[in-house]
Amino acid sequence: MYKILRRKELNPTVTLLDIEAPLIAKKAEPGQFIILRVDSEGERIPLTIADYDREAGWVRIIFQIVGGTTEKLNHLKEGDFINDFVGPLGVPTHVDGLKKVAVVGGGVGCAIAFPIAKKLHNMGAEVHSVVGFRNKDLVILEDDFAAVSDKMMMTDDGSHGTKGLVTNALKELIESGEKYDEVIVIGPLIMMKFVCALTKEYGVKTTVSMNPIMIDGTGMCGGCRLTVGGETKFACVDGPDFDGHLVDFDEALERGSMYKPFERHAHEEACNLFAKEVQ
Ligand SMILES: Cc1cc2nc3c(=O)[nH]c(=O)nc-3n(C[C@H](O)[C@H](O)[C@H](O)COP(=O)(O)OP(=O)(O)OC[C@H]3O[C@@H](n4cnc5c(N)ncnc54)[C@H](O)[C@@H]3O)c2cc1C
Ligand code: FES
Repeated sequence: MYKILRRKELNPTVTLLDIEAPLIAKKAEPGQFIILRVDSEGERIPLTIADYDREAGWVRIIFQIVGGTTEKLNHLKEGDFINDFVGPLGVPTHVDGLKKVAVVGGGVGCAIAFPIAKKLHNMGAEVHSVVGFRNKDLVILEDDFAAVSDKMMMTDDGSHGTKGLVTNALKELIESGEKYDEVIVIGPLIMMKFVCALTKEYGVKTTVSMNPIMIDGTGMCGGCRLTVGGETKFACVDGPDFDGHLVDFDEALERGSMYKPFERHAHEEACNLFAKEVQ
């Protein structure tokens, strides 16, 4: 059983929990994730390690309430216990040798992007963060990004920071002459697809973090398969990070929408929005 040491609501649909898990905290690296079960009857869900403290022995998760399990998790209080908490899983984000990086986050993807920005900053790299949200009520981790990077805040409706999409801000940075060793982008599939289209045009290496449906998280079930550079990869053991210029996003979007067909229309709308902005 894993004790909840701290609980904080970051916005109406996103919650932070610090979980007592010293063995995971000892080994965790940015880019990795855990799989948890809230109780012994619960389903397994993957969540990214958003931060950790090796000495104090806790691991932080930040989750958006989207369905049954995240709803159940959100009802737990400080002092309550989570039944299973397994990790760290997946391959850590490769950061060695990077000197100047743009870290792009969208929505709750910022929770995954933050530990990477922090690690790069602690290594002495120059980090430019471009973080985007639909509106000001959904903004999370603003001060955290500001502490480890030069930050550009974007909202779709202009209610906080600059109005527009992360692709606009990134394009401006690249066109103003910023030379990045790499762009690391984490957020909705459609956002990552359009950031990759942009960086491909400018020849900037780009890493994405893929979050397909996962079941076992150990490479056995094939649920999380993706096509990357024409080959089948499993996000849970080969990723979740991949070279964004090699990922077949259209297939990933198609597979994702099999589990939520009602969102197909929303995908198409978002696709049109990005396409218009990128032109
Ligand atoms: C490697 C990885 C890291 C993730 N990190 C985070 C994170 O840090 N914060 C966060 O808010 N979310 C993260 N997610 C997504 C998170 O796992 C889902 O939101 C969660 O499983 C939803 O469960 P639910 O029962 O609340 O919702 P449901 O109603 O079951 O599902 C809602 C939607 O969540 C997604 N989903 C459901 N089950 C899974 C599953 N087993 N694997 C992957 N996606 C699923 C599907 O898109 C589904 O349509 C991550 C996913 C992966 C694969
Ligand atoms: S979750 Fe089963 S192979 Fe990746």
